[in-house]
Amino acid sequence: METLGIDVGATGIKGSIVDLSSGILVGEKVKIKTPTPATPEAISFCIKEMITTLAWENKPVGIGFPSIVKKGVCYSASNIDETFLEFPFQDYLEKELSTNVKVVNDADAAGIAEMTFGKGREDTASLVIMITLGTGIGSAIFYNGVLVPNSELGHLYYKKSIFEKYASNSARELKGLSWKAWAKELNQYFNHINHLFSPDLILVGGGVSKQFAKYSQYLNVPCRLETAQLLNDAGIVGAAMSVHTK
Ligand code: BGC
Repeated sequence: METLGIDVGATGIKGSIVDLSSGILVGEKVKIKTPTPATPEAISFCIKEMITTLAWENKPVGIGFPSIVKKGVCYSASNIDETFLEFPFQDYLEKELSTNVKVVNDADAAGIAEMTFGKGREDTASLVIMITLGTGIGSAIFYNGVLVPNSELGHLYYKKSIFEKYASNSARELKGLSWKAWAKELNQYFNHINHLFSPDLILVGGGVSKQFAKYSQYLNVPCRLETAQLLNDAGIVGAAMSVHTK
């Protein structure tokens, strides 16, 4: 079976049709810049454009979204427009697109994909934490293969703010940090997570996971720490998978 998965990020929106039996992207991967302001109307417009490009009209769509999402309603808006707070995005999109839509947290989506098709699939009998490093920091916690949704570990307090403001990839870019300087913050972050949860495996996802070799030598965490196998496509794959889960 194939389904369209869309990963909405604070910087870019990426989508592709996904083969759900293998987790492999089928055909073209479409990318659109996230509009500013990133309002429900503006994002819905981009999603419609993507659906037309991929000829996926009136078929089910799964969306990974950078917000706490409960039953399709958004409850946080750290890197998107504030109009999303308490906004029933899933219902809104179902009306706009005239089809079944599932909206879930983007990091949870990436984690589900990684646990099913990536490195996590061998670690279902343990505590696995997936961390996505992008504009924000997303997290997905799995215990014995079961997701604890909406964990928001990027928002743990750190220095005068939250870890996301220091250890995300956008913090590295914004502050022009060297890999070594950025990895110092990242090291604090992963050690903090390790101290709080004692995970068996931390999986690093998001765009910058592709460049893991540039900063991994500066990380010293007393637990397994590896890059996600699906790298930056995990969000798309997990979004597509979410359509067929409860
Ligand atoms: C959001 C999370 C999201 C993460 C990654 C954070 O700012 O609060 O919900 O998973 O960014 O996009």
